[in-house]
Amino acid sequence: MTAMAQASAGSSLSNRRLRIRRPDDWHVHLRDGPMLQAVVGHTARQFARAIVMPNLRPPITTVAAAVAYRHRITAALRASEGEWKAAGFTPLMTAYLTETLPPAELERGFAEGVFTAAKLYPAGATTNSDAGVRDPLHIASALETMERIGMPLLIHGEVTDPAVDIFDREAVFIERHLVPLLRRHPELKVVLEHITTAEAAQFVAEGPATLAATITPHHLHINRNALFQGGLRPDFYCLPVAKRERHRLALRAAATSGNPQFFLGTDSAPHPRHAKEAACGCAGIYNAPFAIESYAVVFEQENALERLEAFASINGPRFYGLEPNEGQLELERQAPNDDEPGVPLILQLANGTATPTALVPFHAGEQLPWRVVL
Ligand code: NCD
Ligand code: ZN
Repeated sequence: MTAMAQASAGSSLSNRRLRIRRPDDWHVHLRDGPMLQAVVGHTARQFARAIVMPNLRPPITTVAAAVAYRHRITAALRASEGEWKAAGFTPLMTAYLTETLPPAELERGFAEGVFTAAKLYPAGATTNSDAGVRDPLHIASALETMERIGMPLLIHGEVTDPAVDIFDREAVFIERHLVPLLRRHPELKVVLEHITTAEAAQFVAEGPATLAATITPHHLHINRNALFQGGLRPDFYCLPVAKRERHRLALRAAATSGNPQFFLGTDSAPHPRHAKEAACGCAGIYNAPFAIESYAVVFEQENALERLEAFASINGPRFYGLEPNEGQLELERQAPNDDEPGVPLILQLANGTATPTALVPFHAGEQLPWRVVL
């Protein structure tokens, strides 16, 4: 573990600075069209690279579609204004696994450096997952190919069986699908994405080095009570849904443990405000605007600021077989100050059209003690 994080204590905790290698986001939804244009700068401001989820409509299932999407992302970056521009940003593309996707397409995309990984969505598990996989056995030949070429498999680990309680779907997925899958494909690199349970954290920690997990900022901050605090709170609804407090504490322990199998993946999943605050609101939390600040709060609370760099900037690239970033990111701790505006209640983001995109950011209305120094 490098000891690059220098939480150089100043005169007091209130003006500490923390410098880490530039982090990466190993799980993000950048969307497309006006939404992409609205949100991409928030990710690029902090992160040098990001694993971009393929659950568009239609999903990204071909090399050509991934190349075209990557162009749209870089074009959206160029079109938006911001200080983050100078630092550079590389989107890492993923393939959306379907039961009919030819393994040769995955192999070609990986060999050409277009696909960094492939994503397994159980059909019906989450946003735009209808075209996903009904049973991992149905994609056995794709998984064999990935295992052979060293292409990581990223998993949304929830069963879709309506008989299984929604709060148990991750733990049941591990038993029912992940254990047999890992047995069938012992060399396959697997990332269990956005883990939410003590069971998942323990399973990964006890697993081989080829098994890893991403952890979101929101699952480190909230438990399921947040969904019902004072009323129904759609802005805290995401999938997998937040669990009991004991699970949140287990995730905090895993993220801050220094174990290289755990790394940063925000699962920032923007939906317009009207689509979340609806009779059947969309799942997804938009945390990109203050993501690294949000993680810093957790690591500070757990007395583990010196491990933030490993989680945010080292463990992910190591798992993916990439070099950590050369650049640095600096965070500054500010004394609580009521005059500061804090995290906005709503963001009205320019998107290249006449009507801005309205999004509620995670931590809306809060004062975060850390901020990125640009
Ligand atoms: C994601 C989305 O909206 O695309 N939603 C979410 O709640 N996390 C999909 C996903 O990652 O499950
Ligand atoms: Zn996601």
